[in-house]
Parts: sequence; C-alpha cells; structure tokens
Amino acid sequence: MTPVLRPASDSDRDIVLSWRNHPDVRAVSLTTHEILPEEHAKWWEAATADPQRHIMIFAEETRDCGVVIFDLREDPSSWSFYLDVEGLDGKLLPAWMRLEQAAVEYAFGPLGLTRLGGETLAANKQVIALHRRFGFLEKRRYERLIDGVPQTVVWTERGTDQ
Ligand SMILES: CC(C)(COP(=O)(O)OP(=O)(O)OC[C@H]1O[C@@H](n2cnc3c(N)ncnc32)[C@H](O)[C@@H]1OP(=O)(O)O)[C@@H](O)C(=O)NCCC(=O)NCCS
Repeated sequence: MTPVLRPASDSDRDIVLSWRNHPDVRAVSLTTHEILPEEHAKWWEAATADPQRHIMIFAEETRDCGVVIFDLREDPSSWSFYLDVEGLDGKLLPAWMRLEQAAVEYAFGPLGLTRLGGETLAANKQVIALHRRFGFLEKRRYERLIDGVPQTVVWTERGTDQ
C-alpha cells in the first residue's frame, strides 16, 4: 500500500466538503458552522487558483481518504488536514500517521519548504501528540475566538532537519 498525495482537481470538491462538514472535523476546526456548498465553492475556487496554496488529496490504494492544505502565503508556511472520518470508521489513527508522514515528505521534498507550522486546538490532544511524534515542536499557545468563544490554539512547527 503506497499512500500518495496528489493535487486536488475540481472533481474532488464535493467530497472534500462532506469530509470537512463531518461533526468530528467541525468540532476541531477554527470555524464550526456547517459550510454550505456556496461558501465551499467560493473558497475552493480561490484556493485552487492560488499558486501559494496547495490542496492535496491523500489516497491509499485507490481510495481517497483525506485532504492536506498547504498555505504558503505567510512565513512560515502552514498546513492543515482532515480525513474522511466516516469512511475510515475505526481506522483513523493509522491513516492520520500515514497522512502526516506523506505531508511532511511532500512539504520538505517537492514543495521545497524549510519550515512548516500549523494551528491545532489545545483540546485536540491526539493531533498535538501526533505532531510531536513527527518532530513538530510547540512554539506558542494563544487564544482565538472560535464561533465567539475564546479557545486555546497551539502553534506547532518543524524544520527540514527534525
Ligand atoms: C481541522 C482543520 C483542518 C480545520 O481547519 P479550518 O478551520 O477549516 O481552517 P484552515 O486553516 O484549514 O482554513 C483556513 C481558512 O479557509 C477557510 N476554509 C477552510 N476550508 C474551507 C471550506 N471547505 N470551505 C470554506 N472555507 C474554508 C477557513 O474558514 C479559514 O478561513 P479564514 O482564514 O478566513 O479564517 C484544522 O483545524 C487542523 O488542521 N487541525 C489539526 C488537524 C485535525 O485535527 N484534523 C482533523 C482530524 S480528522
């Protein structure tokens, strides 16, 4: 089984929205409302047309099971990801690990980044532990309003050599 990251195409747009709208993904996101197709289409169009953003589909065997978003608009670049929680029923953790491995290889390989950071809710302890395992170090914690409620966000970051 070779996990791969491939650039998203417009035929991936609708499935990505269904993954993003899963209640478990919304619960750990920076906005938790259900994203409507119009809002998603607008974001998708802008993000896929932007050379500074890379939307990648994570696939195992022939099955698409997650999305990784690299955002190079700020320094350091950042990334975020979510999986097909429903489709991966009960097998999230191994898929998380393979996705994170693939994302790190892509970021510091073909994408040519030297540093990569990401925001995770402090309450999302599993993902923070996963980042640590892959060499991401906690750089800072800060409060962000998530749907009007202040929540602690953790910024984790790693470089090419960790
Ligand atoms: C889960 C996670 C990807 C959610 O991220 P998010 O809230 O969508 O935020 P992102 O940083 O990806 O999105 C950046 C912007 O694009 C918007 N956006 C992202 N996806 C969108 C979509 N499908 N439709 C419309 N807008 C979207 C966001 O609202 C945000 O807007 P802003 O910059 O104006 O605030 C992110 O919190 C994360 O990577 N967490 C750690 C990993 C994790 O827990 N993954 C889920 C486990 S399966």
